[in-house]
Amino acid sequence: MPDTSTLCRLGILISGRGSNMLAIAEAIEKGRIQGAEISLVISDQPEAPGLERAAERGLKALTIEKGDGTREEHEQQLLTALSESQVDVVCLAGYMRVLSSYFIDAYRGRILNIHPSLLPAFPGLAAQRQTLDHGAKWTGCTVHFVDEALDGGPIIAQSIVPVLDYDTEETLSARILEQEHVLYPEAVAIVVSGKYEVVGRRVLQTQ
Ligand code: GRF
Repeated sequence: MPDTSTLCRLGILISGRGSNMLAIAEAIEKGRIQGAEISLVISDQPEAPGLERAAERGLKALTIEKGDGTREEHEQQLLTALSESQVDVVCLAGYMRVLSSYFIDAYRGRILNIHPSLLPAFPGLAAQRQTLDHGAKWTGCTVHFVDEALDGGPIIAQSIVPVLDYDTEETLSARILEQEHVLYPEAVAIVVSGKYEVVGRRVLQTQ
């Protein structure tokens, strides 16, 4: 049994399906992310299928909707819940809200996101659609630290995926998603290990 007092506590924010959240949970279970546990899953959408999937795995999961309040009020609620669960690192996994400096400052350098393109190409919504519309032949997925720039923080890890003739948004998204489920746990493992340094925009692995 790992010593739970020294585990890095992950908080995962979702808005939908939660398949990346499950990939991280599975990787922890299989020992591919050493020294971490998922302390809390938060969805901003009460109907997110990922909430049920988290609960099925015995993960603590709750909904914090934005409602009529301001973005800062919503982020304050998120921060309170994360701090009550003593979360060290926040993983965005299909979380569909842009975080402000207010939130980012509380976890600066400790927020990760996964994006379904090879950043800096095609940031923002519908990256797979953007890729097809542009006619790119290769794409992939990127895990990066979150800062104020949309999908713009330092890149931790990337995987490449081919765009095939006659791909639709669905077939391309599915091929990328398979890689996301491998890449996100690998990137989380790097961050949890602490064996990296950020030099300018570059995330360098150390021994
Ligand atoms: C993934 O494609 C991820 O790259 C993007 O949103 C999607 C989330 O999927 N940010 P899931 O909720 O993890 O299944």
